[in-house]
Amino acid sequence: MLHDKDRIFTNLYGYQDFGLKAAQKRGDWDKTAALMKVGQDAIIEEVKASGLRGRGGAGFPTGMKWSFMPKAPTPERPNFLVINADESEPGSCKDREIIRHDPHKLVEGALIAGFAMRARAAYIYIRGEYIFEAKVLEKAVAEAYAAGLLGKNAAKSGYDFDVFVHRGAGAYICGEETAMIESLEGKKGQPRLKPPFPAGAGLYGCPTTVNNVESIAVVPTILRRGAAWFKSFGRENNHGTKLFQISGHVEKPCVVEESMSIPFRELIEKHCGGVRGGWDNLLAVIPGGSSVPLVPAAMMMDVPMDFDGCKEVGSGLGTAAVIVMDKSTDIVRAISRLSYFYKHESCGQCTPCREGTGWMWRVMERMRTGDAAASEIDMLYEVTKQVEGHTICALGDAAAWPIQGLIKHFRPEMERRIAEKHGDNMLEAAE
Ligand SMILES: Cc1cc2nc3c(=O)[nH]c(=O)nc-3n(C[C@H](O)[C@H](O)[C@H](O)COP(=O)(O)O)c2cc1C
Ligand code: SF4
Repeated sequence: MLHDKDRIFTNLYGYQDFGLKAAQKRGDWDKTAALMKVGQDAIIEEVKASGLRGRGGAGFPTGMKWSFMPKAPTPERPNFLVINADESEPGSCKDREIIRHDPHKLVEGALIAGFAMRARAAYIYIRGEYIFEAKVLEKAVAEAYAAGLLGKNAAKSGYDFDVFVHRGAGAYICGEETAMIESLEGKKGQPRLKPPFPAGAGLYGCPTTVNNVESIAVVPTILRRGAAWFKSFGRENNHGTKLFQISGHVEKPCVVEESMSIPFRELIEKHCGGVRGGWDNLLAVIPGGSSVPLVPAAMMMDVPMDFDGCKEVGSGLGTAAVIVMDKSTDIVRAISRLSYFYKHESCGQCTPCREGTGWMWRVMERMRTGDAAASEIDMLYEVTKQVEGHTICALGDAAAWPIQGLIKHFRPEMERRIAEKHGDNMLEAAE
């Protein structure tokens, strides 16, 4: 279990003030200029050495991503950092805690990361529903400007850097990095085909890196405590501390910073008071937010909670939003509800996603009530395969995977409902 002395987010629960003075007492903004003095490439190397992988879901190595940015940007074509605070994945609620209780970790991280990738400015794109959080963040940014930590000669580093907070309007798809860039430019937030990747042509056509809030907020502490310290947590290829967000049928749902690779059972027992009704009452877990396939209870118990561990059981760590479902859950209904979410959030550009998400949801609803035919289970699976990998962005995959997980692990339950309903119908007809 992670010791308090190794926690990065020491005000995660808001017991202390979020403002600059309190943040400085917690160690933020301490000799920031000295951290930057080692130079841009040295910072990128340190982040690479720490083993940090992106906390926005895909787990792409952060230092490597930064190294794709041009080393000699021009005033006409500057580099930009975009910080993804859209956090709309059902189950995810970690970036919110960072922003409302520890925003200076993010603002200082923006300066250091922006400097490392030679960015002129950072844009923090925050989801529209985070009204209070946006106000806190704006206040933290204003405090940083007033104290000379941002703007010209930011934190007396000799580097000029601006941070802008931009509020979204409530579309899940704007969390996808290219849709976010379009939206920032004032256009409709629709993903575009890659390549070109944002590091080649991003915001206003300029080289851009998009990173998650947590990925950026951990950077100052990594530099202060050293890459080896961060790397000492978690298994090979899965390093660092991580914010887990546990929701659903546990005694005490929570957001907690833990060591990467902590076994699932330990995470739930230590921080959530166990599963409601005891371990025997556990039905299934969605370990990484709604986009990843569910894992049945028996397979989940000993899984190391990291990128590789979740992959090995056919799922993903995603944003580490752990959704726990006990035996009271109507599992078909739960997945059908997620299908409705993806249908609702599809931006409609790609035919397989636009048509497929609606089709899958309608069939899922008939699966829920048992009104589907048994042969439609295979057909539904086939359709998920037609959507998966055939769209511009990963929302198509995100819509397909939960259904695939359901069919893989809970097919007998789907068949039982169909048999039961048809039996009922026959009874009704007989009456
Ligand atoms: C439909 C969709 C929604 C996404 N939503 C978010 C989000 O809310 N927050 C986030 O950080 N990344 C989100 N992502 C991932 C981003 O595209 C991008 O990979 C991420 O911000 C990169 O940050 P990282 O390298 O620090 O993980 C989403 C991706 C897709 C396809
Ligand atoms: S996969 Fe769906 S959400 Fe993504 S670009 Fe295509 S239609 Fe839009």
